[in-house]
Amino acid sequence: EKSGYDHFMEKEINEQPQSIKSALSGRIKNNVPNLVELENIKNFIKNDLKKIYIVACGTSYHAGLSMVYLLNAYSDLDINIEVASEFRYMNPHVDKNTLVIAVSQSGETIDTLEGIRIAKEKGAHILSMSNVVGSTIPRESNSVVYMNTGPEIGVAATKTYTAQIAILYLISAQILFYREQYSTEIKNIVSKLEKIDEIFEEVLTTKEHIKEISRQYVNYKNMMYVGRGFGYTAALEGALKLKEISYINATAYQAGELKHGPIALLDEAFPVFAIIPFNGLKEKMISNIMEIKARKARVIALTSSEDERIKEIVDDYILVPNIEEALLPLAVAPITQLFSYNISILRHLDPDKPRNLAKSVTVE
Ligand code: M6R
Repeated sequence: EKSGYDHFMEKEINEQPQSIKSALSGRIKNNVPNLVELENIKNFIKNDLKKIYIVACGTSYHAGLSMVYLLNAYSDLDINIEVASEFRYMNPHVDKNTLVIAVSQSGETIDTLEGIRIAKEKGAHILSMSNVVGSTIPRESNSVVYMNTGPEIGVAATKTYTAQIAILYLISAQILFYREQYSTEIKNIVSKLEKIDEIFEEVLTTKEHIKEISRQYVNYKNMMYVGRGFGYTAALEGALKLKEISYINATAYQAGELKHGPIALLDEAFPVFAIIPFNGLKEKMISNIMEIKARKARVIALTSSEDERIKEIVDDYILVPNIEEALLPLAVAPITQLFSYNISILRHLDPDKPRNLAKSVTVE
């Protein structure tokens, strides 16, 4: 069942080229999304939809945040997101013109479930996404897209996270298609998304290099992940993965927020994992890294191109394939997952069973 791997988490990280393929299978035709699950709300999406609200917890929230960045960049749709435990108590502004998207791997997370119940009462349409057929959240939704990525045993979400991002991007594209706002940019992202398994294959070939780098970070007590835009959503997930299975205090910030407080923490005992954007924000990120280096913090940079300037200022360097900016959270995921996994193992912990955590959170 672990197929020769030591842990389920390791197996699930490594099977992402296949699991993403199966999640996307049959769902893209000629670079156009083909999500038949949304057909029953097609007229609503086309004629009545005014606002989208994503509701989720933990890793599923991070996947949702990537969709927010996508729709903000490539559409004029009004898109919001909230952690389910806040959403349910905040008097969320949803109504009959709102599509609430509940993202839940297990389909049983109590806060997400209660969140959709409230939204439903207010008349919103509920679309959910889950990996467990027949689970409670899908049963209470108007439409369901199952992730089709195979069961995930490890408590730390890995392959379901990448499947969530991929499907949320397809849902975004499907919405834009129904609304006749399917731009060439979105079409291009969909066509690249269809081949994301090849990117995963490529990223996974750097496994040994990631292991070597991981060794340098085993004994730190704190670590900060920074990014901008899509890289920021990847940073949030990277930090969550590290804290939950290695118990290192890891936090994520938008790189531009550093000088508003967090940079005060940094010194030689506080390394930084920097996810460098591919687009125009790259230069800004390089100056953020220089500020970090001035505090003597060790830096791992994750970037898409051989850039001598970056190489010179950082301590460790991981290359990711050059892809669409929007796909950055996908390309980065196996790397931050492996990094956390390695550190957990080197600290003699069991990554499949992190202390104090359960695979699905069915009590508040
Ligand atoms: O089953 P769900 O997607 O609703 O679970 C939400 C979170 O509990 C979950 O994503 C959690 O953060 C991950 N297992 C962490 O790796």
